[in-house]
Amino acid sequence: MKKVLPILLILALLVSCAPKPVQNAVPKPETGKPVSLMIVGDLHYLSPTLYEEGELFERVVELGDGKVIQYTPQILEALAEEVERVKPDGLILAGDITFNGERESHEEVAAVLKGLCSSGTKIFAIPGNHDVNYPWTYKYFGEIAQEIPSITGSEFQNIYSLCGVAGALALDQASCGYAFMLADDIWLLALDANSRNTPGKLCKDTIKWMEEQLRKAKEMGVHVLSFSHQSMIDHNIVIYEEYTVQDSPRIMGKLEDGDVFLNLSAHLHVQHIAEQEGFYDVGTGALSIYPHLYGYVEIDENRNITYTAKSLPLPEEVTTASKALFDRTVKRRIDTALQGRDIDAETYERMSEWAIQLNNAYYRAEKIAPELYTDRAVEDWRELASDTLMGQYLLSILDEPVRDHRHLYIERRQE
Ligand SMILES: [Fe+2]
Repeated sequence: MKKVLPILLILALLVSCAPKPVQNAVPKPETGKPVSLMIVGDLHYLSPTLYEEGELFERVVELGDGKVIQYTPQILEALAEEVERVKPDGLILAGDITFNGERESHEEVAAVLKGLCSSGTKIFAIPGNHDVNYPWTYKYFGEIAQEIPSITGSEFQNIYSLCGVAGALALDQASCGYAFMLADDIWLLALDANSRNTPGKLCKDTIKWMEEQLRKAKEMGVHVLSFSHQSMIDHNIVIYEEYTVQDSPRIMGKLEDGDVFLNLSAHLHVQHIAEQEGFYDVGTGALSIYPHLYGYVEIDENRNITYTAKSLPLPEEVTTASKALFDRTVKRRIDTALQGRDIDAETYERMSEWAIQLNNAYYRAEKIAPELYTDRAVEDWRELASDTLMGQYLLSILDEPVRDHRHLYIERRQE
């Protein structure tokens, strides 16, 4: 008897370690616990310890792309309050969490996120192209910016090893990606294209790991949704390079093979929903730019998915400064596009006014007024500036199918 027991024990261990055959997979439940997620992109937080107010920092903000960097501590605080109020199951930070990868910025954000873990919200972060191994990381004192080191991918993993990632089902050894079980029948796949490779490229091992997770999920009959910093579909036909994951048709094909039909992304800073043959990529606008949108995702008990873009409630001082900065930024860019061209003052004014209205509506996913499609300025831009990137971008907006880019409803797919 004494010899039989260890043999039985070894047999039992062998059986428990053996891979489970597909036919024993857990059947997909008909209904399940509703799941809610908040998603934010491009917070671009800068630690107040890394700059002093003055000419240098003012230039950095004014000549940027409309991010109110100086107010990012207030934006982070407002985000934490919103999470406490909404109480989502998870908060996704889809990259570009920091201004340019500063350690102090990452640590201050992580400290706030840690507080949210105690109120029950899981934190899911991945790096954007500005968060790790960034070549232009600075602090801003005196007259010239001083270079400081950016954090690495493994430092990112340590800093954000909070209540979400820490409980992951699987970690990708080749990047900061991971899989997390949101419910018995729903997995969240974090795809990192920025920490170990050329920004925007999912490395070979990450793709292999992703396929492995999708295979397992399929065997187990669970739904998977993914998120990434760069998008899986081009959102704009003019501005897409570096904004979409490299080799996106192939990656998207692999996701579709794994029955994934929704990817949540950020990076473009524009609130925009793209669809290709039933696959959706929802790009949430930048949290650091007016109107400071975040996405709210609800997966109901029947596994239908609703996405809604919402404005983060912020102090009036922040929104007033932010809107004014955005307006100045857009005006500067339009002036740059039109400068040196032989355009009379009246036409210039008309083109500029139209461009501001169209860009603002597009950027904020507001309804584009019908008269903007027929305005005389459309012809002016075609004739006088269609060779500029700004002209091509603005005119491309008019060719897009009209849709609501703040809301999406996806009915559960029938297998
Ligand atoms: Fe980005």
